Amino acid sequence: MLKVAAEKILAHPEAATRAQLVEADMTNFDLGRRFSLVMITARSFQHVVTPKEQRTTLSCVRRHMAAGDHLVLDLFDPSFEVLFGQSAKAPPTRTAHDPKSGQRIRRSRVSIEVDPMRQTVRETLLFEAIDERGDVVATENTSWTLRWSLRQEIAYLLELTGFEVVGEFSDFSRSPPAYAREQLWIARAV
Ligand SMILES: C[S@@+](CC[C@H](N)C(=O)[O-])C[C@H]1O[C@@H](n2cnc3c(N)ncnc32)[C@H](O)[C@@H]1O
Repeated sequence: MLKVAAEKILAHPEAATRAQLVEADMTNFDLGRRFSLVMITARSFQHVVTPKEQRTTLSCVRRHMAAGDHLVLDLFDPSFEVLFGQSAKAPPTRTAHDPKSGQRIRRSRVSIEVDPMRQTVRETLLFEAIDERGDVVATENTSWTLRWSLRQEIAYLLELTGFEVVGEFSDFSRSPPAYAREQLWIARAV
């Protein structure tokens, strides 16, 4: 991901003077400075799969902020139908166009393992590169484990780690909180 980001920055020279990429563990880092805005986007926080590490991550972020600075945190709101129930069937495959190769990239879920005790879901995904003739020319399997959290858990976690919630939405259009959509949190360091 950092390599992709570095390439994108090259395409925006005005950003190059301001952007600094650092490879580090979000559960334990020290960048030696403070930030008025911290964003943990695209559900990245859910890659932190233990309560202890969730707490150290947010405490670490808090140490890089002054009172009044803001944190934006994005997670999916767990759908119990998807995790445990009726619609535990595979989600639709997703395809995207790869501008570099011109190929279509198809993503499909191979398996899902839900651990209610650890509040984790492990997905194994298949990525296929499809050429203009429709032939699969490359495949790659990958998997990730994500931790799901209920809304109140995140509210308590933010409070516990030195934040107050100033906004809570279910999408990026500021829609009110809703079940099984996004959990988009805006928090202020106190
Ligand atoms: C869903 S991707 C989002 C990437 C990027 N933030 C974006 O918006 O496109 C989650 C990223 O978090 C990274 N990640 C997972 N655990 C991490 C950790 N403990 N510290 C830092 N990064 C981590 C993964 O490698 C992956 O690149």
